[in-house]
Amino acid sequence: MPKLKTVAVVGATGAVGQTMLAVLEERNFPVGELRPFASERSQGKTVRFKGNEIPVRPISPGCFKGVDYALFSAGGAVSKEVAPQAVREGAIVIDNTAAFRYEPDIPLVVPEVNRHAIKKHQGLIANPNCSTIQMLVALKPLHDAARLTRIIVSTYQSVSGAGNRAIREMLDSTRAALDGKPFANEIFAHPIAFNVIPQIDVFLDNGFTKEEMKMVWETHKIMEAPEIGVTATCVRVPVRYGHSEAIYAEFERALSVEEARTLWAKAPGVKVIDDPAQKLYPLAIHAAGADATYVGRLRADLANPKALNFWCVSDNLRKGAATNAVQIAECLAEGD
Ligand SMILES: NC(=O)c1ccc[n+]([C@@H]2O[C@H](COP(=O)([O-])OP(=O)(O)OC[C@H]3O[C@@H](n4cnc5c(N)ncnc54)[C@H](OP(=O)(O)O)[C@@H]3O)[C@@H](O)[C@H]2O)c1
Repeated sequence: MPKLKTVAVVGATGAVGQTMLAVLEERNFPVGELRPFASERSQGKTVRFKGNEIPVRPISPGCFKGVDYALFSAGGAVSKEVAPQAVREGAIVIDNTAAFRYEPDIPLVVPEVNRHAIKKHQGLIANPNCSTIQMLVALKPLHDAARLTRIIVSTYQSVSGAGNRAIREMLDSTRAALDGKPFANEIFAHPIAFNVIPQIDVFLDNGFTKEEMKMVWETHKIMEAPEIGVTATCVRVPVRYGHSEAIYAEFERALSVEEARTLWAKAPGVKVIDDPAQKLYPLAIHAAGADATYVGRLRADLANPKALNFWCVSDNLRKGAATNAVQIAECLAEGD
């Protein structure tokens, strides 16, 4: 019988927080006590966990005392302010926001890729960006075999990546557009209904968005390979759950399609769906609600014999956030 843990979920009413509760329950994580936290707005609300309705509470001094693991997904500002309190009060924080990802002493972890980094933690472990996680789960086995030199990735990211209010905005604006009614968008910079928006997060001085640079910085840190050239174009599409990515990957040596397939067949967390003759390839609607990273449409490059192209899909709320965080907690509970 594993030792029961006290687990705090900060942002428990949000898109990621709700998924964390579901994943903790599904994976039978040994939760003895669950402490769900949200903002003052959620006073009086409850969350459902293992058949019980548990009251959501606001953050207060001492609220993390006795907590083993605190899973944060309430935005970067909350993490910056509250995660140090949680660590001081004795919890190990697993943070889903970008608040601490680029600090050299804080491990940034995808268990299938760099589980060993967990050991270096000093009370806080960062969960990477959703788009980076699925890309690296797919690329790591190929990198181990042939060493990546270059990645060019275009993402097709679902609205749930921007939280519950963004899902609502897509649904309401689509209905308004069908009914010929006006709609004022608040979450996205442009209408998301029947549209594709080539901007996620803010623009930086180099012309890339912060979301695009996250894929560069995080790939270098997680793979411990700053020499890999990464170019990302991140795009929001009117999909509810699941990010899709078109990936071009270049290696030090030629890697055949057959060899890549063999490597993926043994790779943890990767599932190949690739039978174009049967119109079978990964789709966001199939990845939604699942934990795997799906790959398909694998092709040798036409211009470069050392490069491959493929399509990669995963549920951003699960492997891209909640499942990855719970996997890190599982590694900690196993003694990493
Ligand atoms: N969505 C994704 O795919 C994804 C993936 C990876 C990482 N993340 C990161 O995870 C974080 C949350 O994302 P989300 O998509 O779950 O957003 P969301 O649906 O908007 O949920 C935000 C959560 O944070 C809570 N919150 C806000 N202000 C708070 C405060 N002052 N104190 C305590 N709780 C507070 C909210 O509580 P109320 O309900 O009371 O407002 C809600 O539970 C973001 O930093 C995001 O970048 C998201």
